Amino acid sequence: MSSPTILVIGASRGIGLELVRQYRDAGCRVIATVRDEASRERVRDLGAQVHMIDVARPASVSGLAWLLDGEKIDIALYVAGVIRRPNALTPPTQEDFDAVMHTNVLGAMQVIPQVAPMVETAGGVFAFFSSSMSQIASVDDSECWIYRASKAALNMAVAAAQFDYPGATLITIDPGWVQTDMGGEGAPVTIEESASGIRSVLAALTPEDKGQLLHYDGRRAQHW
Ligand SMILES: NC(=O)c1ccc[n+]([C@@H]2O[C@H](COP(=O)([O-])OP(=O)(O)OC[C@H]3O[C@@H](n4cnc5c(N)ncnc54)[C@H](OP(=O)(O)O)[C@@H]3O)[C@@H](O)[C@H]2O)c1
Repeated sequence: MSSPTILVIGASRGIGLELVRQYRDAGCRVIATVRDEASRERVRDLGAQVHMIDVARPASVSGLAWLLDGEKIDIALYVAGVIRRPNALTPPTQEDFDAVMHTNVLGAMQVIPQVAPMVETAGGVFAFFSSSMSQIASVDDSECWIYRASKAALNMAVAAAQFDYPGATLITIDPGWVQTDMGGEGAPVTIEESASGIRSVLAALTPEDKGQLLHYDGRRAQHW
């Protein structure tokens, strides 16, 4: 049997880079996307095949299907994401709103019709990086409110898209609060723990998980 093919969208650093490392160590074939030359080299050195994609730019994302032509993808991961910190005491700037919504939501929605058919061909999994900050029932302040809204929108986009790709399992995943550029040094979860937890969760999905939000440690979550 050939080794599984993994696609990591947003692999330059943080959890995406660690997932490339761990899947390569496990003997998988990895295709990854980054945005600059230094990152391309870093990820290529791990043995991945690398493409340049900026998910916030539709003209860039639209080339993905062509770059991946003919692939069967066992696990696709939409890791790319950005955060802005302001709360609801100030109106969001157009720049902050567009940066967060375009990266976290629009990019994912543009990637789905291009990549999900390739995941279906393999009967595979397509996981999108969400956050516990997307959950409405547990919200206790408005910190990062554009980010919160973007991840809640992502949850809905993925749950809805699941119906068009029944041969694939589409989920959203919360990686935990992780020691990355985004999570900061004080976060309780290491990058290695988050990535290995996510790999275990993805390996143990059941049909009931389709369209759902899961935590990196295997706990099933509620979208709301
Ligand atoms: N860290 C946490 O505590 C935490 C908690 C909950 C959810 N998450 C989610 O987990 C995912 C990974 O987070 P992280 O902590 O690893 O973040 P990170 O260290 O800040 O890395 C973000 C990644 O997203 C990529 N990216 C950003 N904008 C992009 C764009 N327009 N096109 C392509 N790639 C883009 C970055 O690439 P560049 O290097 O090119 O910028 C980088 O590879 C994100 O979706 C985040 O929202 C993280």
